[in-house]
Amino acid sequence: MKTVLVTWWCGFIGSHMSVLLLQSDYQVIIIDNMSNSSKDVLDGIEKITGKKPIFVQWDIRDKTCLQELFEHYPIDGVIHFAALKAVWESMEKPFVYYENNIVGTLTLLEVMNQYQVYQCVFSSSCTVYGDSDKQPLSENAVKQPCTSPYGRSKSINEDMLLWLCQSTPLRVCSLRYFNPIWAHPSGIIGEYPTGVPANLLPYVIKTLKGTYPYLNIRWNDYPTPDGTAIRDYIHIMDLVQAHLSALERIETQYPWKYEVFNLWTGTGSSVMDIIHIAEQVTWKQLPYQIQPRRPWDVVAAYADPSKAKTVLWWSCRYSVADAIRDMWNFEGMRKE
Ligand code: WQD
Repeated sequence: MKTVLVTWWCGFIGSHMSVLLLQSDYQVIIIDNMSNSSKDVLDGIEKITGKKPIFVQWDIRDKTCLQELFEHYPIDGVIHFAALKAVWESMEKPFVYYENNIVGTLTLLEVMNQYQVYQCVFSSSCTVYGDSDKQPLSENAVKQPCTSPYGRSKSINEDMLLWLCQSTPLRVCSLRYFNPIWAHPSGIIGEYPTGVPANLLPYVIKTLKGTYPYLNIRWNDYPTPDGTAIRDYIHIMDLVQAHLSALERIETQYPWKYEVFNLWTGTGSSVMDIIHIAEQVTWKQLPYQIQPRRPWDVVAAYADPSKAKTVLWWSCRYSVADAIRDMWNFEGMRKE
């Protein structure tokens, strides 16, 4: 049985990845400093899979802890999610984001190299494309200056990985995505946002639930069909399936060393599209008001997923409506 280390930092994507890995007969080790996640999710993973992952509450920036972990367990590969991910927060705390996201990744890669663990799937981001006007974005698109320290940290990590693949036996898949929608179809695990959600979907769901009186639409005068910004929202289960396919490719395919894949549905949804879908799925009306744009927002971000389809044999099985329905179910089953 192969052993995969999954690094978390808020447990959303990592938890769903851990479920799929356990169901695919991998042994899973989770490392998370629990700075932004809940241990409820570990119970949820066991409830869904009937298996208990190995969990260590450590920080990937602690080199000694990482060395102890690699010394103790026969790790075959790493799926690296651990990063702070709030674009708006990175604007206010650039040093925190660079230190966590870049130093954390570098420390992990150094210890991996020390213990000759050379397979890594990296959770990257389409923020590395910046505010490109060449939509849909392909993997060959030139990386534009990022609009936030968060995006810059992802871009720097990608450059670091590429260089290490050229100078060490490391083999990497960097997966670029933008707007995951977190909720497992079972309704047992999902997104546990701490505080007021900065992202659209959790805010929409909580507004429909009555937690908030209305949704603030952050601007409706963009050059788009309905004036609101466009994103590619993707179900978390499609996302983690791609990570598994990327891991299997690294395990079996030679001699390529470093590859990038866009993980996208390939069709964009505006904020108004999301509102209409959410109202249809929940049979509720969503009150909203228009607010000024967020300075770091880009007009549109969606990409061409054809490379992942042909090389990883990957395609999306879930629609945005499926994702919103699963999120709504999770919210309904969740104890506050
Ligand atoms: C989506 C759209 C807002 C909140 C995402 C991830 C981030 C990173 C980058 C991967 C935008 C609008 C939002 C609200 C709104 N992911 N909006 N009212 O900014 O695309 O960032 O991609 O690397 O982790 O979150 O996602 O959900 O914040 O915004 O109108 O209350 O919804 O303007 O157009 P964003 P988001």
